[in-house]
Amino acid sequence: MSSTLEIEDLNGASEFEHVYRVRCSDSGLDAFIAIHSTVLGPACGGCRVWSYPEPSDGQADVLRLARGMTYKNALADLRFGGGKAVILGPIPEEKRQHIFTRFGNAVEQLGGSYITAEDVGVGVVDMETVSTETNFVSGLRDRGAGCGGDPSPSTARGVLRGIEAAAKEKYARSDLDGLTVAVQGLGNVGRKLAISLLEKGARLFVSDIDKDRAEQFCHGRNATYVKPEFILLSDAQVIAPCALGRAITEEVATTMHAGVIAGAANNQLATNEVGEILMNRGILYAPDYVINAGGIIMAEAEYYNNDNQDGVNNKIDRIIDRTLDILSRSKHDGRPPHLHANELAQAIVERRAQEIAAGA
Ligand code: NAI
Repeated sequence: MSSTLEIEDLNGASEFEHVYRVRCSDSGLDAFIAIHSTVLGPACGGCRVWSYPEPSDGQADVLRLARGMTYKNALADLRFGGGKAVILGPIPEEKRQHIFTRFGNAVEQLGGSYITAEDVGVGVVDMETVSTETNFVSGLRDRGAGCGGDPSPSTARGVLRGIEAAAKEKYARSDLDGLTVAVQGLGNVGRKLAISLLEKGARLFVSDIDKDRAEQFCHGRNATYVKPEFILLSDAQVIAPCALGRAITEEVATTMHAGVIAGAANNQLATNEVGEILMNRGILYAPDYVINAGGIIMAEAEYYNNDNQDGVNNKIDRIIDRTLDILSRSKHDGRPPHLHANELAQAIVERRAQEIAAGA
């Protein structure tokens, strides 16, 4: 292991078990790893590569994302706690393998308290590099588990289930035939989701900051390209944010036309107040981490080697019932769905913490 690898425990916000800054001078790795909770199991959450204006923005992002993973894993009934990693970009292509090797060294040094996987800007090849240094990694091509690899098809399947649940609740729809959906971001998840929606008969508006990618997608399909600045305000019945987080700002929430928000991106609501605005306007928000859990459900089966793809798909399909339950609680007491989701997840973690304290 390189002597240049430095792991500093920042002991930041008290709500977190650990927040590490990981740096390596020879590879140029500069990363944060946040461990929000290990109550339900080792903290598992993907590794993101992103260029933030300042390192402190990356740190803020990793904290938000790690907390979201605790909630996501709890509600999906997984044997994982919540954590996340952010590698500060951009990373030069010629250093990529070296950086992920050192990142793997860091994950190994954390001794299994954090399990990594893919997130935005990171692929299966990167995780295979990580796996040369540590076993605390998921999202690999083949571990003999009968499932595994790129989590995005599983994520897209779950988001589709979330959209089905939301369309049932909001529009009393038993299918998606003719439903109009605006998909923001045609990356790993968004593209697969868009294809599944088309197969179900939905009509799409799509957007990506990579205009060629979006226009090529539309070619020969029942999909219309919309400029990125207009996609969230389009006339679709459902908005599916599948790009980056915090897309639903107060301005968007106040001016948007759709009746449903249900997509893959983590941390879609820019602030808690946005949830209130949506609720007051009768716009139904399917909490992001409830419906985008498909990938981590698959990653859990791969990591523990305890299920095949059919079993994983069955677990993912339960996202419909979970989403409907949360939406019905929200309808019942008039409080936003994301607050119900947070409270349900917190209750699961607290219950387990009490069991552990009692020696169970
Ligand atoms: P990706 O990086 O493959 O795709 C993101 C796409 O969004 C890219 O095509 C990018 O050009 C586009 N984009 C970025 N900003 C945009 C904007 N303002 N307007 C329109 N398009 C924009 O990422 P991936 O894997 O598809 O993930 C998408 C979201 O889903 C992320 O927020 C991620 O955290 C979340 N997610 C992904 C999971 C997975 O299995 N990959 C699992 C759970 C959540």
